[in-house]
Amino acid sequence: MYKIVTTKPFEGQKPGTSGLRKKTKLFMSPHYLENFIQSTFNAIGGVDGKRFVLGGDGRFFGVEAAQTILKMAAANGAKEVILGQNALLSTPAASHLIRINKTDGGIIMSASHNPGGVEEDFGVKFNAENGGPANESITNRIFEQTKVLAEYRISDAVDIELSKIAKINLDGMIVNVIDSVSDYADLMAQIFDFTAIKRLFASGFSMRFDAMNAITGPYAKEILEKRLGASKGTVVHGAPLPDFGGMHPDPNPTWAHEFWDELMSADAPDFGAASDGDGDRNMVLGKNTYITPSDSLAILTEHALKIPAYTKGLNGVARSMPTGSAVDHVAKSLGIECYETPTGWKFFGNLLDAGRVSLCGEESFGTGSDHIREKDGLWAVLFWLNILAVSKKSVSEILQEHWARFGRTYFSRHDFEDLPSDKADAMIADLSSRMSGMKGASLNDLIIKTAEEFSFLDPVDGTTSNNQGFRVIFENDARIVARLSGTGTSDATLRLYLELYDKENIKLDTQQALEPIILAAHELLNLKKFIGKVRPDVIT
Ligand code: G1P
Ligand code: ZN
Repeated sequence: MYKIVTTKPFEGQKPGTSGLRKKTKLFMSPHYLENFIQSTFNAIGGVDGKRFVLGGDGRFFGVEAAQTILKMAAANGAKEVILGQNALLSTPAASHLIRINKTDGGIIMSASHNPGGVEEDFGVKFNAENGGPANESITNRIFEQTKVLAEYRISDAVDIELSKIAKINLDGMIVNVIDSVSDYADLMAQIFDFTAIKRLFASGFSMRFDAMNAITGPYAKEILEKRLGASKGTVVHGAPLPDFGGMHPDPNPTWAHEFWDELMSADAPDFGAASDGDGDRNMVLGKNTYITPSDSLAILTEHALKIPAYTKGLNGVARSMPTGSAVDHVAKSLGIECYETPTGWKFFGNLLDAGRVSLCGEESFGTGSDHIREKDGLWAVLFWLNILAVSKKSVSEILQEHWARFGRTYFSRHDFEDLPSDKADAMIADLSSRMSGMKGASLNDLIIKTAEEFSFLDPVDGTTSNNQGFRVIFENDARIVARLSGTGTSDATLRLYLELYDKENIKLDTQQALEPIILAAHELLNLKKFIGKVRPDVIT
């Protein structure tokens, strides 16, 4: 039996953002989660007779949220929900399950790389039947629903058992509780040369994988330690904890500092990788070697023919606009198209669905391919392992050879966090008002070639997405991109993306090489005047 609960419109996700990320306590407050779920169900034309995938990254409130979502799906007439055991699924695994089971979509409970816990963040997002984040037309419809919502439906059945593999009847709906890992691990075995990687580990190759107490632990243990024979203990922080053990599960040099220090130490293992809360991001490091995500995408593209799944060649590649353009040089040499999209994985969806690109990536430690419709942390790690296994070279050798061949793209992102929203908005409005007149002017003695606010015309469906960040390109092809983060749950974050191309590959420290561009960016935004500081909080 189900009941209809009267409710009111509420403030849900911002239009255009994929999913809702808020403080956990807000999600736990009466009707909040329910309102968002019902809005989502309404936005996709109801769920009667439909099938979905459900799971999350193990953060606090995930199990309770799963019970609520299941009861609502049942009350709204859904036929089946495929649920990861204990309500656990990494985002890539959920995307894969949607695709192989041909469901009508899936619900992922995660706030990605944001910290978890009762005082931290929770999130829910809907992925469509292609396995990817809902596109703007769906997210805008969800937003419209939040403004007119009047009631939601929920079953009054008791909580079900989420920890056993079983098919459970919940008020007429099948809850199919499955192993969270095996289908995903099988997919990885199809894509990569597991025999070669096994041989690599058997030869004594050492690796550290830091799962940051989040969802990738069980996946990494099964794939790296069990199936590929990496030594026990390769995976650290391997049990998903509700508060991620207090870690901030964002794999970058700042938040994964313990892991970083180990890889930069004298007795570092040969290779290291870390993943974020929901498993779609990755950071890869070699012994004393940092690979920027932009270089990583370029290197995966360069070596793709070595990987069983890509031996026929790549259809094309795509990167988000702020991402460093190292991959552009590789695409050019391969004679394949390189697309530039706005920030956010959803913009790759159409290109992947249309078969125009095979690999894509973002500077924010996201890399992926057409095997699913999300970025995929472990996939990127296995890609690197496969390259290392086949080429028999070290991470550092692969990187040096790449720079020698294609030139070096110095790239860095500077984040200024916890900014009062009014100040950040005023700074962006001021920048916007000056943009069109900047061509030919100079900043820190660099002459501006183009200055514009980025718009994207989707070549597949013809839709345009405006206001996707400010981009200034100088006559020496150096580049500044500035935008405000769209994923925070409070305050504003300014992201500055800085790039300089050096064909001669003169070895310099990245921040040192970028110094003139950094100063130009501070001048461009009038940083000191608007936010009172020029030192970033996070540098990646
Ligand atoms: C950030 C990243 C972006 C990524 C998104 C979701 O968004 O910059 O590349 O797609 O998280 O993981 P932002 O906070 O910059 O809007
Ligand atoms: Zn994530």
